[in-house]
Amino acid sequence: MAPLSSINCHSYSYSSSLFSSSSSSINGQQFQRINFSSSGIPKRLLPAKVFSQSRKNSYPDVVLMQDGAVAIPVNPLENETSFKKVKDGLLSSITSAKELKETAGFDMNKNESTVSITVVGASGDLAKKKIFPALFALYYEDCLPKHFTVFGYARSKMTDAELRNMVSKTLTCRIDKRENCSEKMDQFLKRCFYHSGQYDSQENFTELDKKLKEHEGGRLSNRLFYLSIPPNIFIDAVKCASTSASSANGWTRVIVEKPFGRDSESSAALTKSLKQYLDEEQIFRIDHYLGKELVENLSVLRFSNLIFEPLWSRQYIRNVQLIFSEDFGTEGRGGYFDHYGIIRDIMQNHLLQILALFAMETPVSLDAEDIRNEKVKVLRSMRPIRLEDVVIGQYKSHIKGGITYPAYTDDKTVPKDSLTPTFAAAALFIDNARWDGVPFLMKAGKALHNKRAEIRVQFRHVPGNLYNRNFGTDLDRGTNELVIRVQPDEAIYLKINNKVPGLGMRLDHSNLNLHYAARYSKEIPDAYERLLLDAIEGERRLFIRSDELDAAWSLFTPVLKELEEKKIIPEYYPYGSRGPVGAHYLAARYNVRWGDLGIEQ
Ligand code: BG6
Repeated sequence: MAPLSSINCHSYSYSSSLFSSSSSSINGQQFQRINFSSSGIPKRLLPAKVFSQSRKNSYPDVVLMQDGAVAIPVNPLENETSFKKVKDGLLSSITSAKELKETAGFDMNKNESTVSITVVGASGDLAKKKIFPALFALYYEDCLPKHFTVFGYARSKMTDAELRNMVSKTLTCRIDKRENCSEKMDQFLKRCFYHSGQYDSQENFTELDKKLKEHEGGRLSNRLFYLSIPPNIFIDAVKCASTSASSANGWTRVIVEKPFGRDSESSAALTKSLKQYLDEEQIFRIDHYLGKELVENLSVLRFSNLIFEPLWSRQYIRNVQLIFSEDFGTEGRGGYFDHYGIIRDIMQNHLLQILALFAMETPVSLDAEDIRNEKVKVLRSMRPIRLEDVVIGQYKSHIKGGITYPAYTDDKTVPKDSLTPTFAAAALFIDNARWDGVPFLMKAGKALHNKRAEIRVQFRHVPGNLYNRNFGTDLDRGTNELVIRVQPDEAIYLKINNKVPGLGMRLDHSNLNLHYAARYSKEIPDAYERLLLDAIEGERRLFIRSDELDAAWSLFTPVLKELEEKKIIPEYYPYGSRGPVGAHYLAARYNVRWGDLGIEQ
């Protein structure tokens, strides 16, 4: 079987022929292929969806090919082949514009339509560092529709030229080494405009609407608003955007960035207010960790490799560790951070989302709702977190090599007596049949010794292991560990026991290593590229649904309240260290050793 592969963006061009077919032979078996190449369909997602739908519709032999085509084995003795059944029964049913749009998020009228992307809060850090560069990368890769416009919207007065200048300074061009970068950059910047306005002014948004209309030139208008602004002005901006600058004839979608509240109550209030102006389908709650390549790969790893899924349960897995660390403090963001702390900033969203994807049951299909249904079940099966299963820390100043690294409370925007955690570790449990009793340990911290995000899966001991004596007294050293390194230097490796070559019988712990930089020459896109493209295409799989958000807050709110009400003092750790020792005691309570702290990681 040909390996599955990612499907690249294509520019949007259309032809009346949506699918073509041809035959081929794989290992002597005749296959009939359905090619998407000439159709101009956004190949990135459609074949995968057709593939999963085919299987759902009881055509189990359908194969997704490396080039994005779908292939069905042909039995020469059958009059009506599975191919014909699939093609006629499945594909023909999605060739109407409406159904195609529903199935693949594909709009046949795109040639006549336009997408206007308004970055609200255009002069902020996120916009400069992530959103504009991601839009440019999408443009460079021909992933944006033919007709599109980018508008920056913020309070400061700026001309279009000034915005372009600001944007061009941060368009780092991850495609630096590639052809025509500066030419493409110029073309992209010509599509960028600026409108200065207040976030709560209907009048200013009406002016924006007028400008958008001019650029849309009478085409079907689709509008995407990216709210890159502080949460206290979300609702004002949403109200104005939806009432004064919504599309009159196409879709209007709004991307919102976390924080989505700071506990269950405030999150529910935010959702309620958003829903006064938007339907759930219009709200795209971004968690950029879901857009990271290796997080997206989690499901592929599990559900398309026979060797993993059977092991994915309490029977074989001893514990799972979700680790996030940064080697810098809250520099410049102390004001925001002090109101939230590391649990709300990283654990309640990024790490919990990864946990849900990791632990969910097989979804019915790859459709957004099917996947999110499974994730929410995991979140709702989680055991309430006990205070004694949480360790918090805060970094203190440290001098190393003659350099003084500041304490968290040295930040001028942070109160001197702040108890806000910059580090936390927690033990979580999923009370369902698959995961009963398996500790899911989370650890997240700022100003630690390295920058890393990874998932570590530690497997159980081999029962009656013939080679036990080779491991001495430390049997844990002999267990398998699967590591999914989300960043930096993306990799998936499996620690196995191996005989050291030679006449004796010495074992060592070696890695079966899939190191992305060595295996794939293609650069990994930034998470924001994937998420922006998905929002434009109406693909919701990687965005958080409101019930997921509620479940995530229900899990963390009680323990957060307890920490704050009891004014629990964080354990102080030096800037640049490995964090508080309390994290080790917590892990030890569940017979766990953090995998990232070993000599060979
Ligand atoms: C954000 C947090 O969501 O994620 C930041 O608010 C954190 O505090 C950032 O630094 C980390 O993202 P990444 O993609 O750099 O790992």
